[in-house]
Amino acid sequence: MTLPIQLRPLNADDFPRLMKLWQAAETIVIRESDTEETFRRFLQKNPKSSFAAYAGVRMVGSVLAGHDGWRGYLYHMAVKPDYRERGIASQLVNAAVHQLREEGISKVHCLVKKDNLIAQQFWEACSFRLRDELLDYSI
Ligand SMILES: CC(C)(COP(=O)(O)OP(=O)(O)OC[C@H]1O[C@@H](n2cnc3c(N)ncnc32)[C@H](O)[C@@H]1OP(=O)(O)O)[C@@H](O)C(=O)NCCC(=O)NCCS
Repeated sequence: MTLPIQLRPLNADDFPRLMKLWQAAETIVIRESDTEETFRRFLQKNPKSSFAAYAGVRMVGSVLAGHDGWRGYLYHMAVKPDYRERGIASQLVNAAVHQLREEGISKVHCLVKKDNLIAQQFWEACSFRLRDELLDYSI
């Protein structure tokens, strides 16, 4: 039997399960800055816009979403391999973008690695437009 999927906002205690999900996702790059402390700080600034998908008690997908008052950003979109291609990531993105819109944010960005072709197809399917006129500089 396939359990129904339920979406819930992420909370500060979710970090250990999130880390397992990211590690299982193969293409998520986990950096030294991806710590429980950073996650809690992110949630303090953005308490309502990040979501997890559950099949029963099992966390099977999640997305982090936040904004700086100007633009919104999505991070670490991931679905457990066994649960992919069932519309779970689309539901998570819709929930996150909807909440960002409720908070007055109209433009939402997501960085995607050039070699992650599945992710590129996914974001296009979610109506995100590739900004190939931009370069991403960071420090
Ligand atoms: C990318 C990812 C989050 C998609 O999750 P998902 O729950 O399988 O996605 P959905 O089922 O909501 O797919 C929505 C649409 O995306 C596209 N898509 C999703 N997976 C795809 C695949 N393997 N190949 C081609 N298109 C795909 C399809 O157009 C799909 O719509 P359809 O089912 O009507 O054809 C998932 O593959 C994943 O966790 N990958 C590893 C982590 C990652 O790379 N994250 C992205 C970081 S930018």
